[in-house]
Amino acid sequence: MNKIAVLTSGGDAPGMNAAIRAVVRRGIFKGLDVYGVKNGYDGLMTGNFIQMDLGSVGDILHRGGTILYSARSERFKTADGQQQALAQLMEVGIDGLVVIGGDGSFKGAGKLTAQGFPTIGIPGTIDNDIAGTDYTIGFDTAVNTAVEAIDKIRDTASSHERTYVIEVMGRDAGDIALWAGMCAGAESIIIPEANYEINDMIDRIKQGHERGKLHSIIVVAEGVCKGTDIGNMIEEKTGFDTRVAVLGHFQRGGSPTAYDRMMSSQMGAKAVDLLVEGKKGVMVGVKNGQLIYTPFEEAAKDRHTIDMSIYHLARSLSI
Ligand code: F6P
Repeated sequence: MNKIAVLTSGGDAPGMNAAIRAVVRRGIFKGLDVYGVKNGYDGLMTGNFIQMDLGSVGDILHRGGTILYSARSERFKTADGQQQALAQLMEVGIDGLVVIGGDGSFKGAGKLTAQGFPTIGIPGTIDNDIAGTDYTIGFDTAVNTAVEAIDKIRDTASSHERTYVIEVMGRDAGDIALWAGMCAGAESIIIPEANYEINDMIDRIKQGHERGKLHSIIVVAEGVCKGTDIGNMIEEKTGFDTRVAVLGHFQRGGSPTAYDRMMSSQMGAKAVDLLVEGKKGVMVGVKNGQLIYTPFEEAAKDRHTIDMSIYHLARSLSI
């Protein structure tokens, strides 16, 4: 293994830059030439490669976004697109590729490895929705961003004695909603992994109101429904002044937390070590605090699970 490349793919996540830095610096430390691929798989198909030196990843550890840019490529899903990418990799003489992204990105990486080309995945998505790892890069920062926003909304909710519904991201997973809801003390947390009872939510809001609470906070994961649907139902059933806030892409940006920087650094270095050891077609992950790796196909077979004990605890604490 002499030359490796790294790309970011799918929705960006805080910590991706820290992971790029770790791949580049660990690669150079191991005596490799390291290339960055711009614009994810789109850049792989068009040969948008740049050689990375130590300085190219200076001053990025703390920055959100991705210096390599990201894309969700439809063309790369085709056999033609994959052949074109392989041809570009061969032309530059790249021997291995690190893909930082979500499960869709690993499907693409798996296609290259099925044709013999070594790829290693690093889970990078704010959603924390990838099976085969307890953690995905960006999740901690996104949760902190959501909690900070909810804390601020709580101030104005109290002043005006309002009920607030906060819609958070997460695609089909409820992890961001669960963690943000728990850490911001939401009355109800609505996630795809648990059935929600509108009457239960209304009872909780009313009970709080009766004991003098000045506001109610409901956190809803985007994978369940729109925040406005819940807000309308609440207003209809309680008559309370209700507002809806959609946090949206605000959750995807910002400087990564120390935890995200740590995970990105460890996973980035591990990905390079695995390539050097001759591994391919695997995703780096963390399980019970230990760095591990799982074949893409195995991770794809499982479904990501959420820690329901947090859900039940949150319910018992927000009575
Ligand atoms: O996967 C990350 C994520 O931010 C999801 O939480 C969200 O559903 C989706 O990406 C939004 O995608 P886009 O940036 O393409 O609108």
